[in-house]
Amino acid sequence: MKILVIGGGGREHALAWKLAQSPGIQVFAAPGNPGIAQVATCVSGSPLEAAIATGADLTVVGPEAPLVAGIVDEFRACGRKIIGPSAQAARLEGSKIFAKYFFAERKIPTAEFCTANHPAEARQALDRFGFPVVLKADGLAAGKGVVIAHDRQQAESALATFSGRLVIEEYLAGDEVSFIALCDGKTALPFAATQDHKAVFDGDRGPNTGGMGAYCDPNILTASQTNEILNNVIYPTVEATHFTGFLYAGLMMTAAGPKVLEFNVRLGDPETQALLHRMASDLAPVLIAAANSELESLKLEWRTGPSVCVVLASGGYPDAYETGKPIYGIPEAEATGAMVFHAGTRQGPHYLETAGGRVLGVTATASGLPSAIEHAYAAVRAVRFDGMHYRTDIGAKGLRRSRPVQF
Ligand code: AMP
Ligand code: GLY
Repeated sequence: MKILVIGGGGREHALAWKLAQSPGIQVFAAPGNPGIAQVATCVSGSPLEAAIATGADLTVVGPEAPLVAGIVDEFRACGRKIIGPSAQAARLEGSKIFAKYFFAERKIPTAEFCTANHPAEARQALDRFGFPVVLKADGLAAGKGVVIAHDRQQAESALATFSGRLVIEEYLAGDEVSFIALCDGKTALPFAATQDHKAVFDGDRGPNTGGMGAYCDPNILTASQTNEILNNVIYPTVEATHFTGFLYAGLMMTAAGPKVLEFNVRLGDPETQALLHRMASDLAPVLIAAANSELESLKLEWRTGPSVCVVLASGGYPDAYETGKPIYGIPEAEATGAMVFHAGTRQGPHYLETAGGRVLGVTATASGLPSAIEHAYAAVRAVRFDGMHYRTDIGAKGLRRSRPVQF
């Protein structure tokens, strides 16, 4: 059976790597990247052209842009199986205003909010929530369209950089959790909970990025918190939208329970690298079941220990950065037993080179969180490229959680 992965980042490398381990599965990717090329056949052309050329039996989509643009409707119109939501359902990610009104209508817990048609209108709404206040551009912004303003002056200067419609919302304090479920239109199969690290610097300081690292630890949520999220967030959404594909709820675990910060309609990046490294189940049969609306009786198995993925980024990211820097040390990093997922790389004339903001995702799984962190960072230290930077505290929040209560 042939499975085509759409995309060319770290999330798609993890998907292709995991699918390639399923017996009887031939993996293709469009466009792919040099890491993906080690486990799959990379093809060019539009996604539909790639599916036709490879004879793919099933396609799985990584990034949000093609989903919001309607790739799933296009494939289904041609009778092709694909994992992802319709363009209509993808609006849950494509428009934050649409999502907020959906949450309100379905009584899905979320931050109090109001919307504005333009920044000037938003100015009048600032006082309603006090400070800090959260400002969000309506459309897709690669994780960078959200500003947390701590006082009026910060809010005013942030608004000067916005254009178009936006959401103004209450600031929520708590621990952030990424909760992803695979949906087949009727039911949802929850994946293990993960935590991303969105800020660029240690201690959650600096501007937001697409994600500087993630870990997947069985202690992130209790069984009752998982049930609360399924019953209050995931199941009502599947019921209301007949959602197909990956539904990703970005949640804040507040004192008043889990509240939704955002919905994504795809797998997270870098959450997927941590998730699939830890997943013990075969992925291909799960995707096939999802495409056939047969998820009902499935359950996923996970390795008992946690996984950690540390993102190595280009100098300057998330602002402007240079590319074309030779990358050294991946074989040495992988010799430790870690997996190095390629996010922004290309094959240069002599070396593998940097080709994006987030370059690699160094991922390890071990019996406990301290050893998984240690293993991932030992592998990180084997890799180098000019300007490389990374957070040194990926997973540290999990260590605090598992520490016994002190009296
Ligand atoms: P979003 O794209 O909506 O997930 O926002 C990006 C990041 O901004 C989130 O991952 C949070 O870290 C932060 N954030 C968003 N909304 C809120 C909120 N209402 N309160 C506190 N932090 C938030
Ligand atoms: N890691 C955050 C995201 O994929 O949106």
